Amino acid sequence: MSGARRFDGRCAMVTGGASGIGAATARLLAAEGARVLLADRNIGLAEAVAREIGSAASSVALDVTDERSWEAACAHAVETLGALHVLVNSAGISVPANVEDATFALWRETQAINADGVFLGCKHGVATIKRFGGGAIVNLASTLGARPGAMYAAYSASKAAVLAITRSTALHCAERGYGIRCNAVLPGATHTPMVDVYLDNGPDREALLAQFASSHPLGRIGRAEDIAKGILYLASSDADWVTGVALPIDGGFLAR
Ligand SMILES: NC(=O)c1ccc[n+]([C@@H]2O[C@H](COP(=O)([O-])OP(=O)(O)OC[C@H]3O[C@@H](n4cnc5c(N)ncnc54)[C@H](O)[C@@H]3O)[C@@H](O)[C@H]2O)c1
Repeated sequence: MSGARRFDGRCAMVTGGASGIGAATARLLAAEGARVLLADRNIGLAEAVAREIGSAASSVALDVTDERSWEAACAHAVETLGALHVLVNSAGISVPANVEDATFALWRETQAINADGVFLGCKHGVATIKRFGGGAIVNLASTLGARPGAMYAAYSASKAAVLAITRSTALHCAERGYGIRCNAVLPGATHTPMVDVYLDNGPDREALLAQFASSHPLGRIGRAEDIAKGILYLASSDADWVTGVALPIDGGFLAR
C-alpha cells in the first residue's frame, strides 16, 4: 500500500478484541497502520486472531471487571507497543431478560462487565494515553442504551451508563487539555457471535434474522465491519474536533 495511512505510528488496545466487533476493529486498525493489542478474557481466541492479523497485532489477557488486570494490561501495552494512543472498549455481554425474569446475579454481572469495565477502561486509558501526548477512546454502547428494550433490562441500563461515562470522560479530558477525545458508538443488531447465541437458541434462525433485518430501516442486520469503520473514524484524526458524541451505526434504527 502506498501513501500515509490514518494510523501509521499509532498504538491501540482493543478490549473484546478476540471476537465480533472488537476483532473487526483490530483488523481495520492494523490495515490502516496501527500496532494493535487485542485484550480479552478469552486469551486463546485473542492469540488466534492476532496471529491471523499478522506482525502488527499481539494479545494480552484482560478481565475488564478487575482493576489489577487493567493496570497490568496498560503496562503491557506500553512495554510491548512503546506507547498507547487509542483504546477501544468493546468487551461486553448481552443476556436477554426482562426486569421480572432477570436475576440480581445477571444484573450484577452485566453491570460489572459492560459498565464497570468501561469505567475502568476510561480511567486507566486516560491515565496511560495522556503520557503519550493524547489520542482517543471509543466505547461500545448500544441503541438499547438510548432506547431500552423490555427484554434487555440489565443490558439497556449498562449501556446507558456507558453513554454517561463517555460524556463525563470527554468533558474531563477537554477541561484538562489532555488531547484525549472520548466518544461512543451505538450499534444496532450486528451479526457477531453475541447475536449468533440468540439465533442458535431461538425456534427459527432464518425467521429471527429476518426480524432483525426488518427492525432496521436499511433492511439488513449490521456487519462487524460496519461498526468498526465508525470506530476508526472516531479514533482517527478525521474526528479531531469530535468528543462526547454518541454515534448510532444502526441502519436507521434510532431514526424511527
Ligand atoms: N452485536 C451486536 O448486535 C451489538 C449491538 C450493540 C452493541 N454491541 C456491543 O458491542 C460490543 C462487542 O460485541 P460483539 O457483538 O462483538 O460481542 P462478542 O460476544 O462477539 O465479543 C465480545 C468479546 O468480549 C469479551 N469479553 C466478555 N467479557 C469480558 C471480560 N470480563 N473481560 C474481557 N473480555 C471480555 C469476550 O471474550 C468476547 O471476545 C459489546 O460491548 C456489545 O454490547 C453489540
